[in-house]
Amino acid sequence: MKILHIGDIVGAPGRLAFHRIAIPMKKNGEVDAIVVNGENAAAGRGITPAIAEDLLNAGADVITLGDHTWDQKELTPYLDVESRIIRPLNFTSACPGRGWITVETLAGPLTVIQAIGRVFMQPTMDCPFAAMRELFAKDLGFAPNIVVDFHAEATSEKIAMGRFLDGKASSVMGTHTHVQTSDLTLLPGGTAYLTDLGMTGPKDSVLGRDVDAVIRKFFSGMPTKLDVAKDWNALEGAWIETDEKGRAVDARLIREYVEQGPPDFPVPHKQ
Ligand SMILES: [Fe+2]
Ligand SMILES: [Fe+2]
Repeated sequence: MKILHIGDIVGAPGRLAFHRIAIPMKKNGEVDAIVVNGENAAAGRGITPAIAEDLLNAGADVITLGDHTWDQKELTPYLDVESRIIRPLNFTSACPGRGWITVETLAGPLTVIQAIGRVFMQPTMDCPFAAMRELFAKDLGFAPNIVVDFHAEATSEKIAMGRFLDGKASSVMGTHTHVQTSDLTLLPGGTAYLTDLGMTGPKDSVLGRDVDAVIRKFFSGMPTKLDVAKDWNALEGAWIETDEKGRAVDARLIREYVEQGPPDFPVPHKQ
């Protein structure tokens, strides 16, 4: 199975990059399944049911979320209606929605699981490692292909999760930091690992937001409106190929611009 896992979509520019870059890859057979982190798809803050439907109707197989899950009120009831949008597994059991799903893709079933980290994040979450251990101990009929989205800040916590799930999942991909890392690896047990997929949205920004506004906020320390930026719009993520047992056999980083970035902007992973 060829899987495209896409880093956090930020606002309308990120949605445009998804439509322009990811969907053609599925149509031309480069990918069988698309997993996308949508926690910033609605102007940077969460996702609405309408935006989720747009991504799913276009060709996303599963949408994952993160710490911005509850930013849009309408999403809360929707999580119990649309099972293809999942929130972190280790949110408390009182939260609506679910942390994993198995869907049918163009190349067979795919299980997608999301967890959220606790280091430099909200410490009130349940332990993501214990949640994963408990989940994998049950016989839940997972597909051979299992994609894990680990939404976390600390590189150590993310690498530890990759190692913990090596041999259990096809891939463990980090999200949340909006900065793509260069450590894409096939771990010894057959799991593709990357600390962070990066961001799908405007790169002429600070993590997708207007540069001047973010700098003003750092100077003043005051609440500041942080609009989504506009330019150097790119899709970032990873492409993963698995064998019939769901082991990763190949992977590559993806950074693809919708329009030309500035000539001196580094494009180290453009394929
Ligand atoms: Fe996040
Ligand atoms: Fe994010």
